[in-house]
Amino acid sequence: MAVGLVSYAQSTKPIYLDESKDIEERVEDALKRMTLTEKISVIHAQSKFSSAGVKRLGLPDFWTDDGPHGVRPDVLWDEWEQAGQTNDSCVAFPALTCLAASWNPAMSAFYGHALGEEALYRGKNMILGPGVNIYRTPLGGRNFEYMGEDPYLASQMVVPYIHEMQCLGVASCVKHYCLNNEEEYRHQVNVIVSDRALREIYLPAFEAAVKEAGVWGVMGAYNLYKNEHNCHNQYTLNRILKQDWGFKGVVVSDWGGAHDLDQAVKNGLDMEFGTWTNGLSEGASNAYDMYYLSKQYQKAILEGKYTEKELDEKVRRVLRLFFCTTMNKMKPYGFLCSEGHYEVAQKVAAEGIVLLQNESNVLPIDPVGKKILVVGENAIKMMTVGGGSSSLKAQHEISPLQGLQNRLRDSNCQIEYARGYVGDVSGSYNGVTTGQNLKEERSPEVLIAEAVEKAKKADYVIIFGGLNKSDYQDCEGHDRKNMDLPYGQDKLITALAAANKNTIYVNISGNAVSMPWKKQVPAIVQGWFLGSEAGTSLAAVLVGDVNPSGKLPFTWYENLKQVGAHSFGEESFPGIWRNGEKKIIDEEYKEGIYVGYRWTDKQKLKPTFAFGHGLSYTTFKVSNLRARNTLTVDGKMTFLVDVTNTGDKQGSDVVQLYITDLKCSVDRPVKELKAFQKVVLKPGETKTVTLKTDKRALSFWDEETNDWKAEPGEFMAQVGDSSDKLSCKLKFSLIER
Ligand code: BGC
Repeated sequence: MAVGLVSYAQSTKPIYLDESKDIEERVEDALKRMTLTEKISVIHAQSKFSSAGVKRLGLPDFWTDDGPHGVRPDVLWDEWEQAGQTNDSCVAFPALTCLAASWNPAMSAFYGHALGEEALYRGKNMILGPGVNIYRTPLGGRNFEYMGEDPYLASQMVVPYIHEMQCLGVASCVKHYCLNNEEEYRHQVNVIVSDRALREIYLPAFEAAVKEAGVWGVMGAYNLYKNEHNCHNQYTLNRILKQDWGFKGVVVSDWGGAHDLDQAVKNGLDMEFGTWTNGLSEGASNAYDMYYLSKQYQKAILEGKYTEKELDEKVRRVLRLFFCTTMNKMKPYGFLCSEGHYEVAQKVAAEGIVLLQNESNVLPIDPVGKKILVVGENAIKMMTVGGGSSSLKAQHEISPLQGLQNRLRDSNCQIEYARGYVGDVSGSYNGVTTGQNLKEERSPEVLIAEAVEKAKKADYVIIFGGLNKSDYQDCEGHDRKNMDLPYGQDKLITALAAANKNTIYVNISGNAVSMPWKKQVPAIVQGWFLGSEAGTSLAAVLVGDVNPSGKLPFTWYENLKQVGAHSFGEESFPGIWRNGEKKIIDEEYKEGIYVGYRWTDKQKLKPTFAFGHGLSYTTFKVSNLRARNTLTVDGKMTFLVDVTNTGDKQGSDVVQLYITDLKCSVDRPVKELKAFQKVVLKPGETKTVTLKTDKRALSFWDEETNDWKAEPGEFMAQVGDSSDKLSCKLKFSLIER
């Protein structure tokens, strides 16, 4: 009887709606029920952030949203203006540079989960993030949205974010695939790069997102590679992503990133999103019917120019996405601005803040009975608004000054504020305004003089400076013009350091800035863009409630002369306009695989702060590296190393393993990060850390065989807690078997 009922129920429920059936079977079933018009309707946008479902079949509309640091506030159906909702104020999580600086994949998991819950509450089925474009130059306008310069670090950090978000039935859309390493001319840059650099540096984080995290969405980048836009690129999408990596999800165009019908049909694009007709220049409202993957595609099919073969392949991918998201009955409930989400924002920020320098242990401050002078626009400026598509409408944002005031309210100390400099007082993006009035009429000289006078009478001076989210700073659309701190801050910092020996500089940015005054300023902290709980987290580190444990996810160059990308003239950055016309700009990554520390190592340059650098209020000793001294080509290798807290405070250290190929048929970097682990230690405690690697860690991309290759022979493992502080070395061999 029971069996009879089950089979009756099954026979009446269409296969595509039957969750007990294999997803591929459901996809094929839905596909064969869809008309040509319905198939076309699901592969392109119908509004700024949504695409159509198929109502006749009970498939709901699909909603995406930025990404990657919080859920972007709703805009109108076909306008960038705010929709004016009252339920779209979110938690702003720290920028991904900060997440990467935590060197803690567990933080990434918390982040993805919390953001996924916010997305669920807001009815979003896909978050346009995370971003993993490699930090090639410190001028990159969107570096703050990415995970640093190292392919291994970015790979380790991107996977848990995606995994935890997708567990909730919310798709991640990893972006911007690929070679979108700067903002200026992002629609016109044609990148020329060796296969080795592509595979070893620029692709691994995307590869991990696909192969390890099983990401459901990949966003094609605006720029070109091999003369084709990356939103419809035969080589990067069809060949690498779909064929080599077996990607089963959807390729989404960056907004307005499709440029050609034939390529959009054949070269791997699955869903076209955008703004106006072509997303770039023409402004026509409700232009979605004019998209490449819309009416013109349908017409071309009806006229026999294309069969439905490519279309069906796109629709299969979209249906798979629907079944995992909109149609997923196992989706949990979402939450917006929950206490747990604020806790995550705070935890990630606290783990990502990097103590760059701390001469004479000026930090943590000892506030009791003291006068503390806080200086700088970034001490009071809201940073969650601005910067481009990652701009948010945060439910609240605690500024650094407020954070200190809150924390020290009962500490019997005096906090004073001086503006010090004026940066950007505007504070609005896309109709979201901070509501702050940052207007300041006084001249720079007067502001510096005021700050210096106050500094003379203070016990501590804490300057919050750096960049902001305005054009030509840390912002989408343009790159910085140079590495200098803007708004005359160098002058201010130098004057304050001369006036007070306990000067602390907290840099708010997603990029390295030059620090000509580094020797005069005893304490320097990298404070990133920390989101809703920025001030709370910074205060916790400055007073020592939290012992800093962040490590730089990029090399902090002294100046542009130390940067590989800037060492080969215009050809290498920003490129040369082809045929003298301002249409395509060819940019050759002449530094090849030598990006970040791989470049400074090779050139024997000493940056201001090395990749992986970050201090603590305690000290650590890394010792006794050991391992089996042979590794077969198909085997795994385990290294053990001891780490001891040699100071008097509990703290966390990040143990980092770098590998050197001692003899190789091709040129290889001096060393490359291949494993790391963050470990918490009580004073005096020692722990043994296990670091695992495999053959891939020893491999280079062989351009002759088009595959990874590890050459048997001798290698060197170096372990320590910064790329320039590797106290343990061990030789080992890879043997043929
Ligand atoms: C950005 C993407 C973003 C999209 C939608 C584009 O301009 O490059 O990162 O997801 O807009 O806002």
